[in-house]
Amino acid sequence: MAVSSPARILIYGATGGIGEASARALAQAGMAVHLVGRRGDALAELAAELDATFTTTDIELAGAFKQAAEEAAATGEGAIAGLVFAIGTINIKPVGRLTRADFERDFLVNSIWAVEAVQAALPFMVKHTPCASVVLFSTVAVAQGFTGHASIGMAKGAVEGLTRSLAAELAPKVRVNCVAPSLTRTPLAGKLISNPQMADAIAAMHAMPRLGVPQDIAPVVALLAGPQSSWMTGQVVAVDGGRSTLRTKG
Ligand SMILES: NC(=O)c1ccc[n+]([C@@H]2O[C@H](COP(=O)([O-])OP(=O)(O)OC[C@H]3O[C@@H](n4cnc5c(N)ncnc54)[C@H](OP(=O)(O)O)[C@@H]3O)[C@@H](O)[C@H]2O)c1
Repeated sequence: MAVSSPARILIYGATGGIGEASARALAQAGMAVHLVGRRGDALAELAAELDATFTTTDIELAGAFKQAAEEAAATGEGAIAGLVFAIGTINIKPVGRLTRADFERDFLVNSIWAVEAVQAALPFMVKHTPCASVVLFSTVAVAQGFTGHASIGMAKGAVEGLTRSLAAELAPKVRVNCVAPSLTRTPLAGKLISNPQMADAIAAMHAMPRLGVPQDIAPVVALLAGPQSSWMTGQVVAVDGGRSTLRTKG
């Protein structure tokens, strides 16, 4: 009988909309997960439900990535099976109102934190056989230009470059892929979709005419994180109701 690896997939943002749904999908697919977030009570509750381990920390704190990676590896015999980095920003403003601080914050949270998460986990991911898997997040606003998206478009564009660079550099020990969602109903998107007329108008711009929900994204994350995608690396996978590529009106 095959014995499954005890190594865990490290999930950052595991109490967020997409992070939590992804944790559930991974666990349902039989993967062991280690959850990371700021809210200890929510993490403990989800961890108990999913038979997961967890680290409560704020990524703003020095050493947070190292702590999370070491704690994930400790329960996986020194190896980590992969990493899902589901922390990000949505900061939409006309370019004339975006400050250097806006650009720097978006770049830090989306791009630099993503690579720092990988760096901290790498010594443990290379120990996982046959390979480990990293899943990062971009946005539809990289493949398709939208007004007001200069800062987030830049920051997530960097994540797509990072995905391909790391996929080349870390092969064949670590696969690296990226998911690019369109607007998805999560706390992060709350402000944008709080106005029902606005939400309906954006939904209607999709070939599949609705907004995303975390359960649209999570199965793709689980596929990319798990062994069934073992020949996929360096890919940006759009999960966007057709928004990046299709125009159905006009
Ligand atoms: N939702 C969308 O429409 C959309 C569209 C395109 C791309 N994306 C991308 O998808 C990914 C997931 O987004 P989401 O919508 O699921 O976001 P979300 O619901 O806001 O979840 C983000 C998670 O990150 C955690 N987090 C934020 N800052 C942190 C920090 N300093 N330290 C530790 N944890 C921190 C939050 O923790 P707390 O629970 O403590 O707040 C939360 O669990 C992001 O990369 C986002 O850019 C989302």
